[in-house]
Amino acid sequence: MQFMNWNDRLSTGVADIDADHKRLLGMANELFDAIMSGSGKEALGSLFDRLSEYAETHFKREEALFEGSNYPDVARHKQEHRQFTLWVNDARSRFHNGAIAGPSLEVMDYLKDWLFDHIAGRDKQCSRYLAKGVVWA
Ligand SMILES: [Fe+2]
Ligand SMILES: [Fe+2]
Repeated sequence: MQFMNWNDRLSTGVADIDADHKRLLGMANELFDAIMSGSGKEALGSLFDRLSEYAETHFKREEALFEGSNYPDVARHKQEHRQFTLWVNDARSRFHNGAIAGPSLEVMDYLKDWLFDHIAGRDKQCSRYLAKGVVWA
């Protein structure tokens, strides 16, 4: 079962960035499916490794696009990336020490909020600014 399909609300129009975001959406869908089907801990086996790898590679790629531009939100945007990385590292260790025992609603909620708030919000505004120089309030 899918949590959400890829849609225009998520699209930044930057191919590499959209490809990364699709990867993250795929992980959210995978987790949602595991929750809905009542899968056990093994369903999360590689998920945290991939989330951690995503945070490392995707944020670098995205920050390289806006650093050095006149994008006015660099500090706040990078801060949100740092918060995601801290959260992933924390959730990953809680998974490995047994505090997160299986497909977790907490993790699902965090990913859902990230997709709507950061990707459909901050990332989208950022790509609009870089493409058109549109400044928002
Ligand atoms: Fe992003
Ligand atoms: Fe971002």
